[in-house]
Amino acid sequence: MRVALAGAWLCEADFMILDEPSNHLDHTALLQLITELHLWHGGLLVVSHDRVLLESMARVVELSPSGLNNYGGNYSFYSRQKRHETENALHLLRQRKHERQREQKNILKQKACLEQRQSRGNRQRADANQAKILLGRQKQRSETSAGKVKLQHSERLEQLNQQVRDASSRVGENAEIVLHSPSTNRLFSRHLAELSEVQLPFISTLFPSIELEVTGQARIGIVGRNGSGKSTLLKVIAGQLQPLSGHCRTTDAQAWLDQHLTGLDPHRSVLEQVLEANQTAGEATLRMRLAQLGLDAAKIQQPAVSLSGGERVKATLACKLYADPAPRLLLLDEPSNHLDLTSIRALETMLDAWNGALIVVSHDRFFLENLHLTLRLTLEGNSWRLEPW
Ligand SMILES: Nc1ncnc2c1ncn2[C@@H]1O[C@H](COP(=O)(O)OP(=O)(O)O)[C@@H](O)[C@H]1O
Ligand SMILES: [Mg+2]
Repeated sequence: MRVALAGAWLCEADFMILDEPSNHLDHTALLQLITELHLWHGGLLVVSHDRVLLESMARVVELSPSGLNNYGGNYSFYSRQKRHETENALHLLRQRKHERQREQKNILKQKACLEQRQSRGNRQRADANQAKILLGRQKQRSETSAGKVKLQHSERLEQLNQQVRDASSRVGENAEIVLHSPSTNRLFSRHLAELSEVQLPFISTLFPSIELEVTGQARIGIVGRNGSGKSTLLKVIAGQLQPLSGHCRTTDAQAWLDQHLTGLDPHRSVLEQVLEANQTAGEATLRMRLAQLGLDAAKIQQPAVSLSGGERVKATLACKLYADPAPRLLLLDEPSNHLDLTSIRALETMLDAWNGALIVVSHDRFFLENLHLTLRLTLEGNSWRLEPW
């Protein structure tokens, strides 16, 4: 990413378009990117879900199903406006539902009155001993006017239903993504991973070895500059790589979400892969959970390669989290890269509720702060340090 950005600075263009430029950047590189963007004299369009980067923008424009909405201001400004919008949309929906309920009651009352009047009329006409032809005409007239009223009622109801649907679709645009937390027994003391004197492959052997114990409820965040070996460490814990020296004991009840999503087969559909990971929950439940992630019926049948970056992250998360048996240790390598803000918030909520063990690598400060982590593993200078978060 840093090489690509260096190329962009050198191109001397009038206008620069950057698509998620901070994905994979460490915090120092992100701050450097922000400084360089301030110095850039040309036009600039940045596509991003990175809250730190968005905070430094002059104007936020959101692309949603209803079109392009100009919010103006930076991320804090945008999120305040957005909160108001959601509150207003919910208020309008409640109001319209209430109005529909009131009108429905009115209509029912009117209908009952009308029916009463009609049957009274029929009785009176029968009692009045009028000529048959006259009786028929009167009855027809009363039925026609009752029919008209019924039509008016059903038109009014349809109008009210439409108003509720409109208000509900406005709420729907701000709909939440839901990610379910896999159920796991609280196993406080159980060791899920144990690393002793582990020397990582590819990393200078001058670096000290790593000692780490991961018990049932550990919540560890790993931070460190690009290339410091964070992904390599997760691969060792996931049993994908052997340490250069030392010992690493791990559990098989773990879910590893690697930075490049290699766990998702690009040529097969998401549905097929989720069904393979969980053969007990049933297709209907799994389809519903994928829909709650914003992956609709058509998307989950396509080969995974045709999905967007964020959709692939969500599909990989679904394969790992909704697997049977459920994981007890989550290994997440920069999971918020590519995810939109709604999905990041869903991931934060799910991880906050998760009562198993968690090891997460991320450069997203907002994200890490929202996870209530307990331990921080950092590579500072040439030493790995484990400290309270
Ligand atoms: N398969 C590999 N072969 C050779 N070098 C590798 C391999 N995988 C990673 N490395 C190197 O190991 C270092 C650490 O990489 P990585 O763990 O991905 O860093 P990060 O902390 O950014 O996740 C980098 O310098 C990278 O070039
Ligand atoms: Mg990495």
